[in-house]
Amino acid sequence: MRKHLLGLEGMSRDEINQILDTADIMRTHIDNNEFDNEYAKGSSVVNLFFENSTRTRTSFENASKFVGANVVNISVATSSVTKGESMYDTAMTLQCIKNDIIVMRHSIAGAANYLSKVVDAHIINAGDGQHEHPTQGLLDMLTMRREFGRLDGLTVAIIGDIKYSRVARSNIIGLTTMGATVKLFGIKTLMPQGIEQMGATVCDSIEDAIEGADVVMGLRIQLERMQSGQFPSVREYHREYGITADRLKLAKPNAIVMHPAPVNRGVEIAGDVVDGEKSRIFEQVTNGVAVRMAIIKLMSEAK
Ligand code: CP
Repeated sequence: MRKHLLGLEGMSRDEINQILDTADIMRTHIDNNEFDNEYAKGSSVVNLFFENSTRTRTSFENASKFVGANVVNISVATSSVTKGESMYDTAMTLQCIKNDIIVMRHSIAGAANYLSKVVDAHIINAGDGQHEHPTQGLLDMLTMRREFGRLDGLTVAIIGDIKYSRVARSNIIGLTTMGATVKLFGIKTLMPQGIEQMGATVCDSIEDAIEGADVVMGLRIQLERMQSGQFPSVREYHREYGITADRLKLAKPNAIVMHPAPVNRGVEIAGDVVDGEKSRIFEQVTNGVAVRMAIIKLMSEAK
């Protein structure tokens, strides 16, 4: 395991498999209600989230506890960041309080990379702007691998807001590294130019993307990041581009549905699909704890 987890870009198959193999063991602990492990005893993790989160922050918190690490959460809204303290000074302070793993989410792409260069602590990128969300990519791959027993040869359709999605980037990078085929569909204003250079295929319609897929992954329409004029009405979007039970008939018979969440039900995906038998959306959340346990364990061993 590298000192920092900043993104999946540049990671090899062996490095990704090491994390997924460890996460499989961690998932067994979760399933057996074994929450008092000591893999990371003596480590101290701090969650430093400059953007909102439900899943990532709380799963890092539980994951830290489940592997025996100490964990603290910084609420940026009530911290000295509001008095103008810089990211560097905040991180140095957290390090001097004896936190050796800093989990950071920030709206600026490259923020975690910057921090990794200026402090000694291990840095885990919990999402940086539109760049990467590596633990989400890893938990998504864990979910697929547990379902199909492999990643190599799978066809994964990623549908929705590709342009603003750090989840899409981490999944494209991770899945293509592991030998999967990635198909993308999004309305033109939500599709970044040149994305094919990352090894994915851009489809002309949602039906083309879903046809023959093993995994259909919806992405949230990030209304908060959009400028006006890029997006039709919500109802129109769902009718034309939403993941629905009818459209899913085009996928392979044993296909699964995934979504990083939070979900906009009735926008990028129908509510009955979220709750349907093909959905692994809540399974992804549990696998997120397992992946984060694995990363904290491996980082602690690498200290
Ligand atoms: N998938 C994800 O990152 O969710 P949160 O924003 O709730 O952490």
